[in-house]
Formats: sequence, C-alpha cells, structure tokens
Amino acid sequence: MNLPNLSDARIRTKNRSVVKRDDYVVPDSVKNVGKGKYYFILTYGCQMNVHDSENISAIMEDLGYSKVDDMDLSDVIILNTCAIRENAHNKVIGMLGRIKHLKEKKPNIITVFCGCMAQEEGISKLLRDKYKWVDIVMGTHNIHKLPLYISDLLVDRKQEIEVFSIEGDIIEGIPFKRDSKYKAWVNIMYGCDKFCTYCIVPYTRGKQRSRLPKDIIDEVNDLVKNGYKEVTLLGQNVNAYGKDLDINYNMANLLEDVSKTDISRIRFVTSHPWDFTDEMIDVIAKYDNIMPYIHLPIQSGSDRILKLMNRRYTKEEYIELFNKIKKKIPNVSISTDIIVGFPSESDDDFKETLDVVKKLKYDLAYTFIYSPREGTPASKMKDDTSMDVKKKRLEKLNKLVNKYALMNNMKYKDSICEVLIESESDKKGKYMGYTDTMKLVNVDCGKEYLGQIVKVKITDVKTWSMDGVVVND
Ligand code: 5AD
Ligand code: SF4
Repeated sequence: MNLPNLSDARIRTKNRSVVKRDDYVVPDSVKNVGKGKYYFILTYGCQMNVHDSENISAIMEDLGYSKVDDMDLSDVIILNTCAIRENAHNKVIGMLGRIKHLKEKKPNIITVFCGCMAQEEGISKLLRDKYKWVDIVMGTHNIHKLPLYISDLLVDRKQEIEVFSIEGDIIEGIPFKRDSKYKAWVNIMYGCDKFCTYCIVPYTRGKQRSRLPKDIIDEVNDLVKNGYKEVTLLGQNVNAYGKDLDINYNMANLLEDVSKTDISRIRFVTSHPWDFTDEMIDVIAKYDNIMPYIHLPIQSGSDRILKLMNRRYTKEEYIELFNKIKKKIPNVSISTDIIVGFPSESDDDFKETLDVVKKLKYDLAYTFIYSPREGTPASKMKDDTSMDVKKKRLEKLNKLVNKYALMNNMKYKDSICEVLIESESDKKGKYMGYTDTMKLVNVDCGKEYLGQIVKVKITDVKTWSMDGVVVND
C-alpha cells in the first residue's frame, strides 16, 4: 500500500525528468484475462483525464477486455476522477454509492479508482478506511502499471492502493484507444510548476515534464499516416513547453515543427499568459494549419486578487497580450477561464472582472465559483463572502459572458467557414464539427462528410453553437 502525501507532492527539484520507454508491460498471467469480459470507464474533468482514459482503455483491451457503455453489464468499472473543484468530488462520491450496490449483487466485479482525486491524501485514506471494496486505487503517475495491479488483485483479492506523490517521469509507449478517428489529443508535457494558490493540479500531476520533440513529432506523423486531420497539443501550461529540457527548444519551435508535418489542423491547450511569447504569436500567425483559437485564462480582473492567486501578471499586462494576439493573428478567437468569489474578493474586485470582460468581449468564458482545495495556500486564506453573494456574482458574470459569446457568433452569420465534420450531432439528422476558431457548428449534411474539412455556410447563430449547410461538393 502506498498512500499519497501532500508535502511530498509539493517538492520540486532541478533534476531532469527521466524518459522511461520500457515500463509498460503486460504480465503473461493477465494477457487474456479479459476475454469475453467487459470494462466500463467513466471520465471526469479535463482533456488530460480524457486522454488518460484513452490510455486506460487501450490497456484494458490489451488484457482482452471489450468496452461497454452500460455499467450494469461490466466486469471492471473504472472511475477516472477530477479534483479541481468540490462538485467534481461530489459526483464521484455519489457514483461510488451506485457501484457499491452493483458490487453487492456481483461481487466479482473489479473496481478501479484513479485520476486526480486518488492523488489526494484524504481521499486515498477514505478509500482505504471506508471504501474497502474498491479494489484498485492508483494515481496519475502509474497508469501504465494497471496490468500489474490487476494481476496482483487476482492472486490475493486484497485492496491494492498505490499512489505516488512524486515529481514524476515521462512514460513513453503506453498504447492509446483514441475516441475519435479524425482528431487526437497529443500530450506535449505533464504536470505544472505554476502553483496558482487555488489550484490542486501541481500536487496531483507533479512537476512540469516536457516530452522530447522527436517523440511528439513521431506521434503526429503517425496520426497523419492513420488519416487524422487534427491534433490538440495538451499540457497544463503549454507555453512553458521545453523550459525543463536543456536543449534550447521552446513552444514556438515545437509549433513550427508540428506545423511542418502534414497534419491539417493544430490546436493547443492551455496557455498561461505568463509564458506567451511574441515568437509564439508570430508562428501561430504564420502557419495556416495552426488554428486561430487561443484559450487564455485570466481568472480575475483585479490586480489584488491576481496577486493573491499567484498568477504573475497584472490586468494591464494581460490586456496588452490579448490585444497583441488580436492584432497579429487574423480572425483569432479567444476564450478564458474566470473564478469568482476567490477569498477576500470584494464587490470592487468583482467589478474589475466585469470591466475586463466588457473590454475584451471574449468569444467564450468558462466561469467557476472558487472551491477551496485542501492543502493549497488559498484554502487557508480568510474567505468571508457568502455563497449567496458568490452565486449572484457568477450569474451576473455569466449574463455578460453569454452576451459577448452571441455577439461574436453573430459576425459569422452568412459567412463561409471550414469545419472538420467529426460526429453525429445531438440535433437529429445533422453532423457536428468545429470551425478553425473553435465554434461548434451543426451541419446539415450526409454521413459521407465525416472526417472531412468542408466549407460550410453559416445559416443561423446562437450563444453556444451555429447551424450551417455544406457549400462545397
Ligand atoms: N476553484 C474554482 N475554480 C478552479 N479552477 C482551478 N482551481 C479551481 C478552484 N479551486 C479553474 C481555473 C482553471 C480551470 C481549469 O479551473 O479557472 O483555469
Ligand atoms: Fe493550476 Fe495554475 Fe498550473 Fe493552471 S497554471 S494547472 S491553474 S497551477
């Protein structure tokens, strides 16, 4: 049993990250253990988790299991969890209750609990003490060891908890079962060293570790060979890519090298304003296959709150960067993240956030009420704003954000956009995809367009999506 520890998770050394290429092994004892059996996986949280689940699915299929969408029919249930806010926690705890009932009926079901919540000291202890029926608890650093945990479990049927609070390595060679045949997530780095005071991620995901450029380019080339049209380069703070490698190679270099492959569309998330260089902006502007869409979290419009958040920029510096991006990248769309109700946020601080939103008129903003995370510096700060006030602030902010989302979308009415048609839409008989600027479009077209980048005329716009028809033949 190996439990996580918050003080260990905080440690950062100057040691170079180790790239391990042979750490994923499937022991003979479990090679076909899943034949004729099913796994069910539930993923909470960010794209990083979604991509981790693509790893986990491939591992399960290496063991012979097949995927099933109905939990009641499964032999293995996997919860890939998120720790970013309390409501993510609550959903998982609720789901554990449902699984317990199922396990009472079918005791041989294997239950796996992984992801960021497993990295939390309190949660792992809770699983050890109160949820003893959860069979395997593993963290974000050791997904590749899942075959070994299943092998051990089948021998002794004892709860297996292994969660490391380490800076972390880079594990190459874990297989993927990608959700889409047309667009793919590509990790370019793991972890985060920014330590924003509200955020649990640097503790749950370890230190910033950049993958080697060659490994990333090889992966993209491989995706091209397999017919993929779009890649999203993934990291908690992608602009800091390469800072931990001593090869004098940065995010601008990586973007340029990826753009020289034959991939049609390149996206990247998430950007921190602190590391966004002019060189990067120039590269994005220069290459047609780098999409003109940037997610640039501001978090707050008040300098006092930004300082307490340890965001390392002022409102003015952020606005300057925003304007530079708008000026240099034609037709760019910019979205953001905003937290309301950070400890000590006053009406005046909040008004500054509203003022920035009014000034910058984001294409989209993801808004959250601050949620204290145990072990983070912000959770120890005095917070005397009532939840009622925080909810009202969020409502007010959302109204404004929606107004600008619609206003920005209106500009697209009757225009022609390129859309990568990726799947059936929720709207009956339609297919959906995104424009280069990340606008969701429901397109009136046939199945034959799946996986293609097509010209679409926008016929109607709403706050969160648009409608369109194909105009090329
Ligand atoms: N409370 C509320 N929102 C948070 N985020 C991160 N940590 C917290 C927290 N403790 C938000 C930030 C971040 C996004 C992914 O989640 O806005 O950019
Ligand atoms: Fe969290 Fe800040 Fe790192 Fe983003 S940059 S993952 S908000 S600590």
